[in-house]
Parts: sequence; structure tokens; C-alpha cells
Amino acid sequence: MIVLGIETSCDETGAAIVRDDGVVLSDVVESQIASHAPFGGVVPEVASRDHVKNIAPVIRAALAEAKMSIASLDGIAVTARPGLVGALLVGIQVAKGVAFAAEKPLIGVDHLVGHLLAVFLRAEGAAPLHPEFPFVALLASGGHTAIYRVDAPSPSACTELGATRDDAAGEAFDKVAKLLGLGYPGGPEIDRRAARGDALRVPFKTPMPSSLEMSFSGLKTQVARYVEAHPNLTSEQIDDVCASFQLTATKTLADKLIAAAREENVKAVVLGGGVSANSELRRRVHDLAEKYGISAFVPPPSRCTDNAAMIAYAGVTRLVAGEHDGWNLTATSQTSLPRKTRKGRGSR
Ligand code: KG4
Ligand code: ZN
Repeated sequence: MIVLGIETSCDETGAAIVRDDGVVLSDVVESQIASHAPFGGVVPEVASRDHVKNIAPVIRAALAEAKMSIASLDGIAVTARPGLVGALLVGIQVAKGVAFAAEKPLIGVDHLVGHLLAVFLRAEGAAPLHPEFPFVALLASGGHTAIYRVDAPSPSACTELGATRDDAAGEAFDKVAKLLGLGYPGGPEIDRRAARGDALRVPFKTPMPSSLEMSFSGLKTQVARYVEAHPNLTSEQIDDVCASFQLTATKTLADKLIAAAREENVKAVVLGGGVSANSELRRRVHDLAEKYGISAFVPPPSRCTDNAAMIAYAGVTRLVAGEHDGWNLTATSQTSLPRKTRKGRGSR
């Protein structure tokens, strides 16, 4: 089966065509970074308007790249949750229009399930290289950070083993970058600067070291205090702060992921979500997994950040399982993945 996937949950307009064996026939992403950068973060109304402008050309480009027509598709998948509701609605309305006109099934996808399954995507001709179920996955993005045991490719087969109690990891990267006067999005910029900095220069404390739950807002506050106490940081000193912050954040994530896999006695770990594009996190997970005889499956950076190929793949797995949605499919800001970790401070 072959499905068109549409992604408009945040600040990337994406369309992709993917086969049920994970082969990506086309994958087009139009980034809105330039539209949001002057504001230092994503402006929801600007995002919706950019999606309206970009969605049709992006879908046409995906069809052209795959050399396919809408008539030859088996279904239309679209991100329905979680995300900015106004942004999601653009993709959903377009997907409904295309599916209705072409008489194809409409498949709503949870964006986070897309991130969890991105590891199954591959190029035509590339050998399949993906984990067997069950695996343990770290999903670390701009809006969500959690570790899951994944027993099958559906939300009900995912168990949350621990999540952040406050900020998402990507949110922490973006806020720290802002504190240091760096551009948006902050993650890639911190990654670049950290490579030049001395990670041992600023001893930030690791939050919640003995739990699978996480906290990133305290770490961000440690950086804020340091910046307050050290005004007029030189560019080299900013590199050192970036390296020290990144060391603490990625060590926490990698340690917890491997600890979770060992607790679950699972032999494969998977990374997903924008923060999984981070070079130090990828290196740490590989090294630590190897130390404990665990296989690490890490998608290329372009499949960690938002894309429509992961949405098309999550959609095609639903279609193969005999599932699809009705015309009442709507947008919601909440994920369908089960939650356990309570938000906020205090005992559980
Ligand atoms: O998955 P994603 O593209 O969108 C969401 O679903 O949120 O994740 C975006 C987040 C942003 O916070 C961005 O700063 C972060 O991922 N990110 C990174 C890197 N690349 C993107 N964080 C750290 N290092 C990177 N190289
Ligand atoms: Zn995402």
C-alpha cells in the first residue's frame, strides 16, 4: 500500500509518499523558520497562514517527486494531534478535501507515533535496518519528552516509562539559546557551538538523576542564574556554556533511555523527535548502548525533526491494520499516547 502523508502540526509544512515497507518515494518539507525567527519562536497565527500558502505546492511537489497521481494512492494520512490546533486544521481540511474528491480513506495520525516510527523509514534500495518489537524509545522534541516501551506500532501498545515533569528537552534548548542571545531554533545552534566549547567549564547539576522521570526547567534556571552572574560573556564563553548545558541535558536523556531498556530487559533502543538530531545525544546513546549489549537505532537527523514521511508511514501501518477515520476527524492539542508522569513539582 502507498499513502500520502501531510504534516502541519507546528512550523514545517510537509508532504510525503511512503510505501508500507517503509520505503520513502518522496519527502518534501517547507520550513517556516524564516517567518518565525524575527519573533524568537513559533507564532501560531503566522504558522497557520504559512501552511495555507505552502500546503498545495508542497503536496504537488511530493506527487511529482514520486511520479504518482492522487488516483494511484491507497490513502491520505494527516497529523491530527498533538500540535497547534489552527496549524493542524489546515492539514486536516486539505487531507479531507483530497480524500473526499479522490474517494480514498482518510487516516488521522498522532504526530508522536510518527516520531516513534520514523526509524522504520528507508530509501528505495536501502536494506531494512530497524528494531524488532518490543523496543524502548526516547521521544524528545520541542513540545514533548518521554521514554516509552513500544510493543507494537499503535498508541495503545506504547507504555510511558517516564516523562518530563515540566519543560520538554527541545524547549530547554530553545530557551537556553534565547538566554544566551542565540537565534531560533536554539537546538541546532547550541549543538554547533557546543562542539567548540569546553563542557567541563560550568558544572551544571543533573536534574532527577535516580528516576526515569525528567525535569528540564531547573537546568534552564541554572543557566539563567549563570548568565545573570556573568554578564558580557565572550563568544568563547558562550560556547563553553552551550557545551556544559548540552553535556548535562544529553547525559540525562541517554542515561535514562539505557536504564529504561535495562529495566525492561529490552535489547533495542530507538531515538525520535527533533532533539534526537543532536550530535552529542546520538554519540552518547550509541556508546552507552554498546557498553550494555543493546542495539541503538537512530534515524538520520532529517527524519528526527518534523517531516511528513513519518506521518505517511504511521498512516500506512494503520491502513494495513484495517483502520481509518471518518469525515468527523478533527484536531486536538493532546497526544493519544498514554501518560503517567504528573506535571509540576511535588510527590506523586
Ligand atoms: O520534533 P521537532 O522538529 O518538532 C516538534 O515536534 O516539536 O523538534 C523541534 C525541537 C526544537 O526545540 C529544536 O530546537 C530541537 O528540536 N532540535 C535540536 C536539534 N535540532 C532540533 N535540539 C538539540 N540539538 C539539535 N541538533
Ligand atoms: Zn515533532
